[in-house]
Amino acid sequence: MTLNGSGRVPVLRTANVTKDLPLGAETVHILRGISLEIYKGERVGIIGPSGSGKTTLLGLMGGLDTPTSGSIEIDGIDISRLSESRLTEVRNEKIGFVFQFFNLVPTLTALENVALPIEFARKPQFNPRRRAAELLDLLGLKDRLHHRPNQLSGGQQQRVAIARALANNPPLLLADEPTGNLDTESGKVVLKALQDVQRETGTTVIVVTHDPRIANQMDRVLTLLDGQLVAHAEAFV
Ligand SMILES: Nc1ncnc2c1ncn2[C@@H]1O[C@H](COP(=O)(O)OP(=O)(O)OP(=O)(O)O)[C@@H](O)[C@H]1O
Ligand SMILES: [Mg+2]
Repeated sequence: MTLNGSGRVPVLRTANVTKDLPLGAETVHILRGISLEIYKGERVGIIGPSGSGKTTLLGLMGGLDTPTSGSIEIDGIDISRLSESRLTEVRNEKIGFVFQFFNLVPTLTALENVALPIEFARKPQFNPRRRAAELLDLLGLKDRLHHRPNQLSGGQQQRVAIARALANNPPLLLADEPTGNLDTESGKVVLKALQDVQRETGTTVIVVTHDPRIANQMDRVLTLLDGQLVAHAEAFV
């Protein structure tokens, strides 16, 4: 791993990342040269208008998708050049995802949803059910361990999703509009939960958001416009 000039360690670094996708006979340039560094423990917001490429960028950072060109390093590993099986391992070990629509397994309880990625880890560092119960407790869901997703409110489901994302203690938590599908009150609870776990675990957090309350809590806000990073963060919050 290399240090930058200030001696800080980048948890994530992208260099000239582009993403092109075919659309009929045309090619759409969705991301057009994204270079950024994100440091350990930082909380970074990504904002920008609809269609500017936020979800695409987050997917690339988390190894859910591969760039057309450029490199993406997580903890010094270039994930844009890994085999699918190695990438799955790196994703499981290093990255937690929180999606706008929770994406919990509907047939499993809260506890089982959170325990699942720990059971999948090749070398589990935690006892799955004990760790899941601790995380759900941290997120204020101690009395909801055995509820299934359809027996939980939206805000509670999202807190289960945050617990699941943290299950293997990843250095990087990526969230795509985590409050985008919640009412104001549930959004506040989820936001507080995110802040609490961040404080508790020191995990680096990258959040795509339209929510000014989230953007205002961040150490730094990046703005995407037409697939490029621009200055002037305030314009789209
Ligand atoms: N599979 C695809 N094929 C072609 N174009 C795509 C595909 N997926 C996304 N796009 C285009 O890429 C652009 C960026 O999409 P993306 O979902 O990253 O935007 P976003 O910033 O997350 O928007 P929103 O705020 O609405 O979620 C959009 O113009 C979209 O139409
Ligand atoms: Mg999006």
